Amino acid sequence: MNILAIESSCDETACAIVADGTKIISSVVASSTQMHKKYGGIVPEVAAREQLTCILPVITEALKPFTGVMKDTINRYIDQIAVSVGPGLIGSLLVGVETAKTIAFVTGKPIIPVNHVLAHMYANFVNNGAIEFPALSLVVSGGHTELYLMKNKQELTWLGGTLDDAAGECFDKAARLLGLGTGGGLAIQQAAKKFPIGNFQFAIKLPRPMIHHTSLNFSFSGLKTALLRELHSAISHYDDIYHHSEHHEFSLPEDIIDAFAYEVQEAITDVLVAKTLKAVDMFGAKSILLSGGVAANLRLREKLSDAIAPPVNLCTDNAVYIASYAFFHQKDQDWHTITALPDLSVEI
Ligand code: KG4
Ligand code: ZN
Repeated sequence: MNILAIESSCDETACAIVADGTKIISSVVASSTQMHKKYGGIVPEVAAREQLTCILPVITEALKPFTGVMKDTINRYIDQIAVSVGPGLIGSLLVGVETAKTIAFVTGKPIIPVNHVLAHMYANFVNNGAIEFPALSLVVSGGHTELYLMKNKQELTWLGGTLDDAAGECFDKAARLLGLGTGGGLAIQQAAKKFPIGNFQFAIKLPRPMIHHTSLNFSFSGLKTALLRELHSAISHYDDIYHHSEHHEFSLPEDIIDAFAYEVQEAITDVLVAKTLKAVDMFGAKSILLSGGVAANLRLREKLSDAIAPPVNLCTDNAVYIASYAFFHQKDQDWHTITALPDLSVEI
């Protein structure tokens, strides 16, 4: 069973063709991340326009393993269409959703609407049939930090999530505050790696919000505020030493920035690990699944070394896991009734 899936919820335009929910035939991702750099963050209007520019070339590229005209190829080789309908940016979502509906209309193929956040977890089932259930699944992305219990591939229960900022958002904001631009979690990871562990000369301590709280919820907005406070005190300390009167925010020496990045990464990953292990104990989970962009973080993977995590290119946004989710749920819908749902709930 070949599913053609489309993902356009944010600044990535993606199309994939996946056989039986587990075997990748093709996967194409175009990203407008670079274009947003000069604005310091994603501009929804720019992201939506880029989706429009990229969607047809990306689908055409994904169909390359097959030859022929797009409509004929889909008619012949594709069994179902899947599309990410939310949560996400409305302008971006509309492009993928309306394109998928058009394909379903023209070809008469069944179409399955997919929740982007739930779908992230299914990256773990691509090329991997040996997952033991019940599984505890941590989805950590730019907009979400959620814990689910998976009884099997179909039955999911939401256990907790963030009350404010997501872990990825915290990485992104910390990177900006540290002068690492829009490099996000990856930039923090790279800076943290340069910090010699055990270097107590620059020991910085940030809080681990809600780490001992009885619930399985998270909160990361306080961590950002604490980082800002510590940064200001470090800046005034170093300005006093070096008399950098005309330099403000980013006049800190590079090794201090690395020390901050190290501690931010430790704080975020300590909380993610503690809550995940707590949930594993509570529900007797037999395996741990990581997914979402933050699951690419090497320190998180190191601390949760027993966890199963998809390869890095399947952690960040792509359409492979959209196809995989659709395959295992098989909930097709009349194309007329499918709409973009920017606020789609992730609690089930
Ligand atoms: O899943 P994703 O690609 O998009 C959303 O659905 O949000 O996740 C993007 C998030 C960003 O916050 C980015 O900073 C974070 O994933 N991220 C990382 C790493 N690579 C991407 N965070 C920590 N360490 C990384 N290596
Ligand atoms: Zn995502």
